[in-house]
Amino acid sequence: MKNPKIYVAGHRGMVGSAIVRALQAAGHSNLVMRTHAELDLTDQAAVRAFFAAEKPDQVYLAAAKVGGIHANNTYPAEFIYQNLMMEANVVDAAFRHGVRQLLFLGSSCIYPKLAPQPMPEDALLTGTLEPTNEPYAIAKIAGIKLCESYNRQYGASHGIDYRSVMPTNLYGPGDNYHPENSHVIPALIRRFHEAKVGGVASVAIWGTGTPRREFLYVDDMAAASVHVMNLKKAVYDQHTQPMLSHINVGYGDDVTIRELAQAVGETVGYAGAITFDTTQPDGTPRKWMDSQRLHDLGWAPTVDLREGLKRAYADFLKHNTP
Ligand SMILES: NC(=O)c1ccc[n+]([C@@H]2O[C@H](COP(=O)([O-])OP(=O)(O)OC[C@H]3O[C@@H](n4cnc5c(N)ncnc54)[C@H](OP(=O)(O)O)[C@@H]3O)[C@@H](O)[C@H]2O)c1
Repeated sequence: MKNPKIYVAGHRGMVGSAIVRALQAAGHSNLVMRTHAELDLTDQAAVRAFFAAEKPDQVYLAAAKVGGIHANNTYPAEFIYQNLMMEANVVDAAFRHGVRQLLFLGSSCIYPKLAPQPMPEDALLTGTLEPTNEPYAIAKIAGIKLCESYNRQYGASHGIDYRSVMPTNLYGPGDNYHPENSHVIPALIRRFHEAKVGGVASVAIWGTGTPRREFLYVDDMAAASVHVMNLKKAVYDQHTQPMLSHINVGYGDDVTIRELAQAVGETVGYAGAITFDTTQPDGTPRKWMDSQRLHDLGWAPTVDLREGLKRAYADFLKHNTP
């Protein structure tokens, strides 16, 4: 299709806005977008009316209720209900109104707490989930299974092809830098920046600094999403199975929290000391995705951690300096 009509759900979020940038850079001009205020995706009637009116050709489902451990623990009902409703409404309305291609975005939290490292796609549903975000993870697993079930029932008869990607930890422009409720990279950027500006002699990091984590720059995630959406069906089918169809999107390499803290400190230009508060818990020793499937499908990231941090800090300064 030459200039497909593409609906990006969640286009004001960190990932959705990166997908919009990637699509526009690739020359797509026929994009449909609605803010949360304009279209509440948990409202089935509103979602059906939207699809009936707009009839997009492709859908990127990057809208979700997301949050850290504290929010997940405090509002588990909202996390499971809203995410299930958004996915079910969008996937079903897309099917009813002739959308042939849809990409659902999940997260690495779908894998069991004790999954092998790196975590391959077939680790899904092999063990107990991390309890703190289990409701969210269950909703994301349901999203994968929605796509697979619609493909299995209607793929041949209606020509639909709904796919899923599971990104590792993301960072970059549009991230949430809230002091208490942000992921590790934006939290470190804020802390080191404030320490630099305030002339603070040392910054203490929680834990030993030895756990390893993987990070992907959000524009790489957007590029991977567009790549997976546009793969020929025969190629996608060759590398996936009808009931094991999701694709991991990782950087391919991980770093210790100590290495990450040093890299953020250098990026920000913080000259003080970095210490580790070993009385605080470390969390899982390693969370690393096996991205071989995506690699075999012809995609690799282009932004390394140093470059990504530089760009993320520039974005932070743009929004956080008077
Ligand atoms: N950020 C990461 O590190 C990361 C890692 C792995 C996977 N992911 C996945 O990527 C996806 C997007 O995450 P993100 O980081 O871009 O999150 P985000 O910045 O919070 O964006 C989510 C977007 O969804 C919208 N939204 C939420 N509830 C809605 C509703 N009921 N109706 C309509 N829109 C609604 C939000 O709008 P409002 O803000 O107006 O509510 C927001 O624009 C999620 O599925 C997430 O699991 C993210």
